[in-house]
Amino acid sequence: MPDWRVPLVDVTIDELEVEAVAETYRSGWLSSGPRIELLEQRFAGYTGAAHAIAVTNCTAGLHLICAAAGLGEGDEVIVPSLTFVATANAVRYTGATPVFADIGGLERPWITAETAAAAIGERTRAIFNMTYGGHPGDSAGLAALAADRRLLLLEDAAHGLGGSLDGRHLGTFGLAGAYSFFSNKNLPVGEGGMVVSDDDEIAERARLLRSHAMTSVTWDRHRGHASSYDVVDLGFNYRMDEPRAALATVRLERLDADNARRAAAAALYRERLAAIEGVSATMPVDVALGERPAHHLFTVVLDRGLDRDGVRERMAEQGVQTSLHYPPIHRFSAYGVAAELPRTEAYAERAISLPLFPTISEEQVGLVASSLAEAL
Ligand SMILES: Cc1ncc(COP(=O)(O)O)c(C=O)c1O
Repeated sequence: MPDWRVPLVDVTIDELEVEAVAETYRSGWLSSGPRIELLEQRFAGYTGAAHAIAVTNCTAGLHLICAAAGLGEGDEVIVPSLTFVATANAVRYTGATPVFADIGGLERPWITAETAAAAIGERTRAIFNMTYGGHPGDSAGLAALAADRRLLLLEDAAHGLGGSLDGRHLGTFGLAGAYSFFSNKNLPVGEGGMVVSDDDEIAERARLLRSHAMTSVTWDRHRGHASSYDVVDLGFNYRMDEPRAALATVRLERLDADNARRAAAAALYRERLAAIEGVSATMPVDVALGERPAHHLFTVVLDRGLDRDGVRERMAEQGVQTSLHYPPIHRFSAYGVAAELPRTEAYAERAISLPLFPTISEEQVGLVASSLAEAL
């Protein structure tokens, strides 16, 4: 692995967190138990959702919410193509078909009420919002569209943890949402995720399907709450374990502070990049009243015709790691859908994600900005 002067992401684990995990191992109870219950309680409290269900990862969570919502063969679900492949895969796991909608524009790299509405057909049952980069995007517009057209709104909030719009947490605008605790996310645990919902039935169903649709889990039986169980549906093993729950619970305490540091770094980037020629747009765009992004990503869109990959190579030579969010899903071999998504394609060809993490220093931001300027 190259020794980056500025890596894309840097995760720091403090001693309190290490101790919480060590204490869990010392306890001898490793599978779902009291720490999962505590994390779910705290997470629901934090996001304001009625229910929180800890899962192995966000992909499992996305599948669970699709399954709990009853999606299946013959259903179409509107999804962005500019997202991680898991969003569309989750729809396909149920037998339903993803239908790709375009993004709003280079400064609005998410599906909007307008672009989603254009993709609605007779078989459409749901819309999948993905809070790109941790920005609220058009969460409110999509919720209004879904309500108006009697569609379900599901949310991939892998990037959105800690962000809000008019005081409402991202990922809580629809029927259900899922977050990721993957190590590059705002609450990094390694592997892990959380499903949230205000809907009692959906939450109960997601909880059931998380553990093989068994009517009691090991922890219930250990506590003497049940001695046997029935299996009432075709479920999965999407359970999180206790060490991860312990780590996530402690990290949740510092999420707002971490996100504030991300916000400060994003502001600094904008200041440093303002005068650079060759940059058409930066993301996040100006933050409007009521919007509190989670600042998961900071991306720049280069002017048309510039050699984006060459720019990334030159930045790498300077020790600056960058990334792409995302190669559009409709172009993948496993999808190969002939969709007309010109704004998605333009963005995907011209965007670069710059390093962003809570402990990035002013000097590192300066180095990234100067290496970008030089490369351009
Ligand atoms: C938008 C989006 N959705 C889903 C996922 C999947 O998350 P996980 O790795 O926790 O399954 C990711 C993670 O990379 C993501 O960025």
